[in-house]
Amino acid sequence: MKAALISMGSKSSQMTLQAMKKYFDSVEGIDLRNMEVMVGGKGLSILYNGKPLQKYDGIYAKGSFRYAPLLRSITTAFYDTTYMPLKPNSFTLGHDKLLTHLAMQRNKIPMPDTYIVSSRAAAKKILNQVNYPVILKFPQGTQGKGVMFAESFAAASSMLDAIETLKNPFLIQEYIETEGSDIRAIVIGDKVAASMKRKAVFGEKRANIHAGGKGEPIVLDVHTKKIAVNAAKAIGAEICAIDILETVKGPEVIEANLSPGLQGITAATKIDVADKIAKYLYERTKEFVEKGKTTETSKLFTDLSIKGGAEQQIVSNLDFRSDRILLPKIVTNITKFDEGQEVVIKAQKGKVTLEKP
Ligand SMILES: Nc1ncnc2c1ncn2[C@@H]1O[C@H](COP(=O)(O)OP(=O)(O)O)[C@@H](O)[C@H]1O
Ligand SMILES: [Mg+2]
Repeated sequence: MKAALISMGSKSSQMTLQAMKKYFDSVEGIDLRNMEVMVGGKGLSILYNGKPLQKYDGIYAKGSFRYAPLLRSITTAFYDTTYMPLKPNSFTLGHDKLLTHLAMQRNKIPMPDTYIVSSRAAAKKILNQVNYPVILKFPQGTQGKGVMFAESFAAASSMLDAIETLKNPFLIQEYIETEGSDIRAIVIGDKVAASMKRKAVFGEKRANIHAGGKGEPIVLDVHTKKIAVNAAKAIGAEICAIDILETVKGPEVIEANLSPGLQGITAATKIDVADKIAKYLYERTKEFVEKGKTTETSKLFTDLSIKGGAEQQIVSNLDFRSDRILLPKIVTNITKFDEGQEVVIKAQKGKVTLEKP
């Protein structure tokens, strides 16, 4: 099987690339910065160094928030034909803390109270009501750089004026007292593969390793693990890091990171996270390729046996994209439903039907 790792070539990506080579027949490291996308009436083409990207069985595409539109386009182009652990939508959701929080809220993932405002007047009103300290946060910040702590209304109000000049959207978030610590859980599939507790350096409140934080291994309880796995699912990522704060009310998620650094967590936990990722990618790619083969045969079989309007029965395992059910392609062929067509969906426990109105 052939795989590609599309990334910005960081140390963590190199670790993953080396590990993938142990499992796949061939693995190519592709620099995201040399990729282009062309969208036109005739289709979507993805170019690497000016030439169409070749076909892979599995593609692990990741990168920083600046590349979210490019990553979304690449994963959209290969969505049906290639296994990819990060779904197109995850790049839009995961690279924006506001959208992450909205997706998590829909999936009932606990998180600190977070406010979104569109005007300075509205922000001042909220800042007049909240408890202090409070957090102001840029939705696209990373490594702790977009997180600000305000000890009082006066501090928050002057920060607000400074933020205003940047014309950047921001969040106001309840401050959780954790003595500068947080939990980072690496989610791979439906498991937490490694977890560490990070502690901010003296005088600092942000626990990020890049802000000088130190990590130590931590064993998470089943409840916290479940929250981390569900948070990853909520944004459509099979591989990511989830940042969690331990509060008196239980664990609360503050962030999902689609391209987490591996050095800190590997050193802290002594778990070979890159190897776990590579092994997972290999197993899922294999499943995807084999499933593709069976769908092809069943498609042929059904195409042959379709007789004017007769009801066809398909026995198959359910495929989920995040928390949505994806029906096999053969259902599209038989029903002749078109994209965007209005249908009546009748659902009850253990049964679903789709009909033209
Ligand atoms: N609501 C909060 N209460 C207390 N500390 C917070 C809160 N939000 C963030 N932090 C601290 O700031 C760090 C960075 O915040 P995070 O939302 O993960 O953004 P980043 O993308 O910069 O890592 C966290 O690891 C945590 O230590
Ligand atoms: Mg973080």
